Amino acid sequence: MWRFVQITDPHLASDRDGVWNNRFLCSMMPEVMACLRRDLEALQPEFILATGDICSHQTRDAMFEARDLMDSLAVPYYPMGGNHDFVVHDSRAWFLEAFAHRLPRPATVYSFDHRDLHFCVLDAWWLWGDGTLSEVGEKAVAEHLDVMLKDARWAIPPDQLRWIEEDLEAHANTPTLIAVHYPAVPVPKRMRRPDYRDAGSLENGAMLLELLRGFPQVRAIFSGHVHMHFIEELDGIVQVATGALPEYPTEYRDIRVFDDRIEVDTLALSDPAFAKRSLIPGREWTSGESRDRAVVIPLD
Ligand SMILES: [Fe+2]
Ligand SMILES: [Fe+2]
Repeated sequence: MWRFVQITDPHLASDRDGVWNNRFLCSMMPEVMACLRRDLEALQPEFILATGDICSHQTRDAMFEARDLMDSLAVPYYPMGGNHDFVVHDSRAWFLEAFAHRLPRPATVYSFDHRDLHFCVLDAWWLWGDGTLSEVGEKAVAEHLDVMLKDARWAIPPDQLRWIEEDLEAHANTPTLIAVHYPAVPVPKRMRRPDYRDAGSLENGAMLLELLRGFPQVRAIFSGHVHMHFIEELDGIVQVATGALPEYPTEYRDIRVFDDRIEVDTLALSDPAFAKRSLIPGREWTSGESRDRAVVIPLD
């Protein structure tokens, strides 16, 4: 058995505190990362899959500050971008520069092998109101990114769909996990409450799933973005969506890989004070039901 962990949406390099479905407390992240460092030292994962919204402030300096905090965890990691990382024209250049030492190639879309697993990392683009697919966010949407996601939409560009198809054809015999910031499906209805705030999902998630189902080696998609936990079995592919570190329940996923299966579990930080600070009483539902907190994915 070996293990890796998924952390997501740390929203580093920002002092902004606000409310999403619970209190969203970026200012506590340096303390959270210090706690996580201690926790991971005990857990000994072989690497971290960091599924986007790593940096919550759109400057080059902020990207490097976020990188330094990620490095402070002292565990190798695979970074990817989310809607808070990739907003302006230079975002991806800053990302490639800051995370060069962690990327298997100088690209925001890449694949890698670890032991007997293959991983594909995707980078969804912004879908503008007029249907244009762009690397940058529409000005009006980008301006209110910190407080709401009105009119914000994302999709996997056609070039990436072709890339993933070729990559999966070349790795047909290796069990494969996909990582992309946005889930392929919306938050399930069973999770929603009247005052629930919806962050959205991939606009072409159904198309992506259809493509992936043509490759039986694909077992799961790991995502963040929705700042809550859910797990859905989608005709042979398991969508694991994981909550954000600065927001209740301030948890991450522990993924243990055996010869014949992958066991996904959900772990809290050892210091319960962060979750307590973020929780708005009555909104515990963002931590999911038991089926959203653990799943076994067969590998054979
Ligand atoms: Fe986020
Ligand atoms: Fe996001």
